[in-house]
Amino acid sequence: MSRSPGFSRCMPAGAGTSCRKSLVRLKPGIPISDVQHDKLIKESVKHSEGSRMTAPQPQTGSRTGRRRGRRAESEAIISVQGIRKTFGDVTALKNIDLTVSKGTVLGLLGPNGAGKTTLVRILTTLLNPDGGQATIAGHDVVRDRTALRRIVGLAGQYAAVDENLTGRENLRMVGRLYHLERKQARRRADELLDRFGLLKAADRLVKTYSGGMRRRLDLAASLVVSPEVLFLDEPTTGLDPRSRTDLWDVINELVAEGTTLLLTTQYLEEADYLADKIAVIDHGKIIAQGTADELKRQIGGDVLELHVGDRARTDAAIEAIADLNVGEPHADATSGCITLTVTNGAQVLTQTIRALDAIDMPIADIALRRPSLDEVFLALTGHETAEQPAEEEE
Ligand SMILES: Nc1ncnc2c1ncn2[C@@H]1O[C@H](COP(=O)(O)OP(=O)(O)OP(=O)(O)O)[C@@H](O)[C@H]1O
Ligand SMILES: [Mg+2]
Repeated sequence: MSRSPGFSRCMPAGAGTSCRKSLVRLKPGIPISDVQHDKLIKESVKHSEGSRMTAPQPQTGSRTGRRRGRRAESEAIISVQGIRKTFGDVTALKNIDLTVSKGTVLGLLGPNGAGKTTLVRILTTLLNPDGGQATIAGHDVVRDRTALRRIVGLAGQYAAVDENLTGRENLRMVGRLYHLERKQARRRADELLDRFGLLKAADRLVKTYSGGMRRRLDLAASLVVSPEVLFLDEPTTGLDPRSRTDLWDVINELVAEGTTLLLTTQYLEEADYLADKIAVIDHGKIIAQGTADELKRQIGGDVLELHVGDRARTDAAIEAIADLNVGEPHADATSGCITLTVTNGAQVLTQTIRALDAIDMPIADIALRRPSLDEVFLALTGHETAEQPAEEEE
């Protein structure tokens, strides 16, 4: 069932790069502190739920396969109305409205500090909102915490595995916490170690694992039992391209089995590949929502990026492309990189190659790719991803 996104040929998966010089780099977010993290782990033990709050039910495999995008709109399983949250002077969420249909994937796309983790924490009962209402499968996130924790799973942004246990011990422990029989917990741990490429390292202490291995183990732990609704907060950040696409396959399998998924990401191509619907969040507000196609229409299509072989003649290349009437090219004469937003990518690609050939312009590189997060924000808001953190905004 795995699909290959065509654009992965043109750019490293998840790189989200652009040759435009003016791009603002994403700023690192504020990590959940160790104290908060410990508290979450303690909570998880206390409730047998906590940061992986999933029902104590083994995988049944009885749900019928459903392919992403083919499922008709059904009833909303996640419903969010007017959710607000402030931390002191920082307004993290301002009146968030969202719905997610059962068995579908919502990609919550936004830069550092946009409010993604705050929303995920509220929806998984780890944090109370200041106002508004949110329900999951009819359970209110504030009033019905215990019932809600039985149906949701969470792999948070920061790995919540025990460093002093081996990978295998971690997964078995999670299984036991969710009341799987010892044998079942062992079997499930082995399956997941295999599925996430951790079999060889299974009996090593987690403190010897690399960052990517910890991330994969953490994700495996969120899948020990099969949640009805799964939250993945930036699941592929820090993973290499291979691990990232492996994880995309695992996510697609889960959704085909019927899990509803809300995942946060900073990569449009990831949201595009995995999600039925995408919500773009900026400064605690949803600024656009829709399918990847609807969003792309809003932002003007894909990006054609080309590097001319003769940088001194970048202007001549731009003139040749401008004659095609396909939009306004942006150029960086220093790097010889030209980008333009196009709706009919394949056709423009051919026309561009012909036009440059006609003026004897060598092409060092040419690729059609999804817009980067910066380009999405530029198109939607007129500015690139925020230079100032949310707290400095009004
Ligand atoms: N516990 C907290 N105390 C104070 N401010 C907080 C707290 N948690 C989040 N914030 C602030 O709320 C805003 C939203 O943070 P959040 O972690 O939700 O962003 P995010 O979209 O997940 O970002 P990232 O991509 O960096 O993970 C930020 O300005 C952040 O500094
Ligand atoms: Mg976050």
